[in-house]
Amino acid sequence: MTAARAIAHPNFALAKYWGKAPGSVSSRETTRTSAVLRSAAFENVPAVPSLSITVDAIFTTTTVRFEKGLGSDVLVLGGAPQYGDKAKRAFALIDRVRLAAGLSTRVRIDTTNSFPTGSGLASSASGFAALGLAATKAAGLDWDASRISDLVRRESASAARSLFGGYVELVPKREPFLAALPIEAPRAPALSVVVCVVTEEEKSVSSGAGMRATAETSPYFLSWLEFAIRNYRDQRDALLQGSFEKMGELAEASALAMHATALAAGLVYWSGTTLALIHAVRALRASGVPAYFTIDAGPHVKVLVPRAYEERVASTLAHVPGVLRTINTRPGGAPSVEIVP
Ligand code: PMV
Repeated sequence: MTAARAIAHPNFALAKYWGKAPGSVSSRETTRTSAVLRSAAFENVPAVPSLSITVDAIFTTTTVRFEKGLGSDVLVLGGAPQYGDKAKRAFALIDRVRLAAGLSTRVRIDTTNSFPTGSGLASSASGFAALGLAATKAAGLDWDASRISDLVRRESASAARSLFGGYVELVPKREPFLAALPIEAPRAPALSVVVCVVTEEEKSVSSGAGMRATAETSPYFLSWLEFAIRNYRDQRDALLQGSFEKMGELAEASALAMHATALAAGLVYWSGTTLALIHAVRALRASGVPAYFTIDAGPHVKVLVPRAYEERVASTLAHVPGVLRTINTRPGGAPSVEIVP
């Protein structure tokens, strides 16, 4: 049987998505419906638009092999067989691909990340993007990036954005088909994203569970929705104008508003090191270095800097107590896929 291997990169949202659109259903609620009904469902649709950077230096590599004789689907992540939630979500995506391709053969998935998994470094984005690419290719489906973006979005909305390199947006609409789109930004500033890794541990509350808790209990959720739509529009304008300072200020505001909303629902994704890094970035800024942070659902801090300041910022932040290492990344990271023996 055929096998395919894909490489996909994480993306970091500058304008964050947090929360699902009203009426959006989870993939779990549609697992028992047919492929046709499922693809027509308003599944896992974000409540707000998001704008992200896919980055070049870190990635997921995934091989999907349809194998006659396998009794059940197998997922091996970093050499360890998986049986829990990660396996369930991966196999749910494989089920969609099987239905679309008219296959019943079981698969073996081998996947590795070049960075910590499930801790707020967007491994679900690169992971599901790589899985969608490898699975459709191995199944013989000739789908373009947009169709695969819609497929993977149903399991992980941020993964929809990793089907494209560089600046990407995902804008919800009232239609079942929803794919991310690359943004043409010829005036985009030459910037780097310095990733400050502060833990190798997985987070205790997944993004999905965190979003549900926020929507149900945060007193600020409605204000967040209004803010996030405006913030996305302003960031898009700043990117098209090529204004690094504006992009940085708005990205920082998006991360702080998202975390403030989640904090009010009892979700603390930060550690002491996260706070120390926030202060360190602001100290750099006070000393004349244009650096801005963003933080996802985990304690790591990603810092936007003009390329000329990349080394200086990385070496300063690497010395903040609690930082395990820094990784310099840049906008890029278009995914790739190939048939393998
Ligand atoms: O798509 P998920 O379930 O991995 O959630 C992504 C949530 C954030 O990373 C915090 C924000 C975003 O837009 O990527």
